[in-house]
Amino acid sequence: MAWVGEALWLLGTTPFLGCPQHPGVLKLECPSLLHPRGCEQGLSQLLGEDGHKAWHELRETVLERDLWKMSNPRNGDTKPPCLPRNGLVKIPTQPNGLGSASITKGTPAMKNRLCQPSSVPAILSPALAHRSDLPIPSLASPLSLTALASVSSPPGPSLVGLNTSEGSEQPSPERLPGSPSERQLAVDEKILNRLFWYFSACEKCVLAQVCKAWRRVLYQPKFWVGLTPVLHTKELYNILPSGEKEFVSLQGFAIRGFDGFCLVGVSDLDICEFIDNYPLSKKGVKSMSLKRSTITDAGLEVMLEQMQGVVRLELSGCNDFTEAGLWSSLNARITALSVSDCINVADDAIAAISQLLPNLTELNLQAYHVTDTALAYFTAKQGYTTHTLRLNSCWEITNHGVVNMVHSLPNLSVLSLSGCSKVTDDGVELVAENLRKLRSLDLSWCPRITDMALEYIACDLHKLEELVLDRCVRITDTGLSYLSTMSSLRSLYLRWCCQVQDFGLKHLLSMGSLRLLSLAGCPLLTTTGLSGLVQLQELEELELTNCPGATPELFKYFSQHLPCCMVIE
Ligand SMILES: *[C@@H]1O[C@H](CO)[C@@H](O)[C@H](O)[C@H]1NC(C)=O
Ligand SMILES: *[C@@H]1O[C@H](CO)[C@@H](O)[C@H](O)[C@H]1NC(C)=O
Ligand SMILES: *[C@@H]1O[C@H](CO)[C@@H](O)[C@H](O)[C@H]1NC(C)=O
Repeated sequence: MAWVGEALWLLGTTPFLGCPQHPGVLKLECPSLLHPRGCEQGLSQLLGEDGHKAWHELRETVLERDLWKMSNPRNGDTKPPCLPRNGLVKIPTQPNGLGSASITKGTPAMKNRLCQPSSVPAILSPALAHRSDLPIPSLASPLSLTALASVSSPPGPSLVGLNTSEGSEQPSPERLPGSPSERQLAVDEKILNRLFWYFSACEKCVLAQVCKAWRRVLYQPKFWVGLTPVLHTKELYNILPSGEKEFVSLQGFAIRGFDGFCLVGVSDLDICEFIDNYPLSKKGVKSMSLKRSTITDAGLEVMLEQMQGVVRLELSGCNDFTEAGLWSSLNARITALSVSDCINVADDAIAAISQLLPNLTELNLQAYHVTDTALAYFTAKQGYTTHTLRLNSCWEITNHGVVNMVHSLPNLSVLSLSGCSKVTDDGVELVAENLRKLRSLDLSWCPRITDMALEYIACDLHKLEELVLDRCVRITDTGLSYLSTMSSLRSLYLRWCCQVQDFGLKHLLSMGSLRLLSLAGCPLLTTTGLSGLVQLQELEELELTNCPGATPELFKYFSQHLPCCMVIE
């Protein structure tokens, strides 16, 4: 799940995404949508009036951000000003930097600036944007083109929408339009290259259908890094008029450089077809995820033999391979393995994994039949390399298994015991005493855990940045008081911790490091208690779904007093 999870939403239900013929699916090509008459018409047709408007506003905002960056060259580390949230537009998290008033989108000042012949809608060349030693004009004084032209390092056109003359010569005045036309801006690759970063993957799928110029820019691999296309069996084939099946072209994926795939419901044969048809399959694909696949031992062996680049493997809901198959196919180059909901996986699977995968850094396991014994199988090599272990719903694991684990994998920095419901406070004590490097700990759905466990955690795990306590129903306000001393904690999940009250919440208000807090489903928190959270001015995300105390008035209050925090209703 782990590395695929991030991309699973590509499967999403939004009708906004993908080809009309195949709503909801990240599609390779939708040539019919590429608008013959150019980007602007294509944009209107595809996004409608609102989308078009949002696009224009975004563009102006980006222009302003660039101006801001230019006038604050020494603030390399501080984030640029907030972008307003706005329909289509996805925003990075919000600092405040400059007074926001001067940076709001589409202010009259901005519009004037765009129209003044002496100023430019400047998108800096990357080289310039990173120079911090240059005297850069401030926002207040209009930017002179000469100033910009003289500092831009690469020869050739450095300004969007404007053709400068060759080399380092000054641009000739007669070729400088006062306001570059919409049309030029809409196809200028430099501006597009910057703008497209502001869109989500779904949105980029849509924007790539606007016109050829946009697709060309958007199909660069940099815009798709970290995403995993999810393909279902039926989408892998086109039915020809003759009734025969033909494997789809995966060229569009190859251009975008996708190096990870999730195939759903595929058979051994489908996997072979995929290997034959995806140009990057032999060397370029690094992660493969199979869900609800009928892959057999033989199929697994062929796949890992043929796809020489695969270092991350996920098998989920696959019931046709066996532990013997793991013994015969697992390859030592694999560094991350996830196995969940596969019926034939028990202790011997762990034996195979620990023997065959010396370079394992991450293991995610959801297996009802894995026992305490298996957690002692890991070798010295893994004790060194394995940093991430997620044992989800391993119901048979007890504190004895935890003992084995902390001794065989002392270098863990990420541990999940989510749903390992037999683990108690004593198990957590072992974890806290022995795994001091932990940065993330997930104890959700461990109903036996009490406030004591939180005391151990707070005492010993000084590096902890993320703590998940969802559904730890015995935790009370006392437990939260222990947590308040944890100065590295950035993310705290307390979903459905049904005993937490306003008083406990107060303990969290001094935690200046907190960026993400989830209180979803906490039934006892009142509107008054929650409103105190405005003290956490650094908060970036606050989840309040299913909180009876989270009233519309409260959300309004947060939008005024926590303007840079995304509050999830
Ligand atoms: C810039 O110059 C190129 C060739 O020199 C030309 O094809 C293009 O139309 C010009 N663009 C603008 C906006 O004038
Ligand atoms: C395991 O990792 C080591 C060190 O990074 C590397 O030299 C070795 O080639 C890896 N083994 C395999 C089979 O990939
Ligand atoms: C843990 O990893 C570090 C390097 O990250 C290494 O120096 C240390 O020996 C490892 N510990 C164990 C017990 O393998």
